[in-house]
Amino acid sequence: NYYDVNRNKYVLVTGGAGYIGSHTVLELLSCNYEIVIIDNLCNSNLEALRRVEKLAGRSINFHKCDITSEQEIDAVFEKYTFWAVIHFAALKAVGESTRLPIKYYHNNLTGSLNLLRVMEKHGVKNMVFSSSATVYGEPETTPVRESARLGPVTNPYGKTKLFIEEVLRDQCEADSDWNVCLLRYFNPVGAHISGLIGEHPQGVPNNLLPYVNKVIQGHLPYLQVFGSDYDTIDGTGVRDYIHVCDLATGHVAALKKLEKKPRCVAYNLGTGVGYSVLQIIKSMERVTGAHIPYKIADRRPGDVATCTADATLANRELEWYPTRTMDDMCEDMWRWTRRNPNGYDSPMLESDEES
Ligand code: NAD
Ligand code: WQD
Repeated sequence: NYYDVNRNKYVLVTGGAGYIGSHTVLELLSCNYEIVIIDNLCNSNLEALRRVEKLAGRSINFHKCDITSEQEIDAVFEKYTFWAVIHFAALKAVGESTRLPIKYYHNNLTGSLNLLRVMEKHGVKNMVFSSSATVYGEPETTPVRESARLGPVTNPYGKTKLFIEEVLRDQCEADSDWNVCLLRYFNPVGAHISGLIGEHPQGVPNNLLPYVNKVIQGHLPYLQVFGSDYDTIDGTGVRDYIHVCDLATGHVAALKKLEKKPRCVAYNLGTGVGYSVLQIIKSMERVTGAHIPYKIADRRPGDVATCTADATLANRELEWYPTRTMDDMCEDMWRWTRRNPNGYDSPMLESDEES
């Protein structure tokens, strides 16, 4: 059966201590994959993995390793025989990437090339790559399909995603033993239903929902709504928010797809449904009972009016369907925030221990 099929399948997860990585690792463990994580912890906390271990009832092989060092990666590949790699490790702050392009190109591009060189050396030729809806730039039509024109992408972060996609397409073209699923995430939000793991951005959050959470907590006075004159339902930006646990099941589905040797395939992971900024504020107010003060501000440079996914390819070819609603996303996000006001620096509550 499915459970036994995955036993002894070693999957290397780069960036596995991070937000999407930790939720995915939990899902992989529940499907009985053997997991090895490498992460340099530059944007994550080992406490996340301690909690994943607790939820899964299994222990995790973790190696502190920076993918900008080929030797460090190689040392891990010497220890295990991997069947596939899920590659999450990257820096992801769009605004910071425009201020510090070299840092982003070095970390994301050099890091990925190092990883690919080590995979090639050890004959590991299956990969699931964390791409992003950002590769579409400003989509000509929405919901956007995988076959849509890619780019132009205006920020260095997004360019690293596009470049790595190109590298992987070229590699699959050159060597038919390589198989890659490029997963283009739309806007990941939410947290595990236990409230034990979730997203903990350092400093002032860039993304909408983490920012709203800080406002509800009283750590920030109000939300700035970036633009109210877009051609959308209420003038504010529309996005396709996807629950992080639905993304997690998408990775398991992608691993299954790799067994069928698909070469290089891209899949949108989104719900297909868009929500405006004002609709998100309303949902969060309803779920939390809090009032969320906001002010209309200028458009944020680089933002598009609408970005939603046509995910029918993933529905059909991966048999993947998101199941969580916007209320689930808001409730789970808020449960995590309430129970862990300081993220992973918060002590686990006794009620959490019991759950
Ligand atoms: P995250 O920052 O929580 O996780 C990334 C992890 O990679 C962190 O644990 C970090 O410590 C690690 N890392 C970074 N550079 C590293 C290096 N040089 N060596 C080893 N580890 C390193 O981010 P996330 O939200 O979980 O994103 C995971 C992936 O998904 C990233 O590739 C990101 O670009 C992509 N993505 C994220 C979003 C989003 O909105 N969260 C959307 C689309 C795509
Ligand atoms: C959502 C909406 C904002 C903050 C980013 C990256 C993308 C991907 C996902 C990695 C927009 C509005 C936001 C605020 C606001 N990441 N907003 N006030 O920009 O769709 O996507 O994260 O790959 O590449 O660009 O997400 O959460 O920043 O914004 O009004 O304080 O909320 O204008 O309409 P975005 P976001």
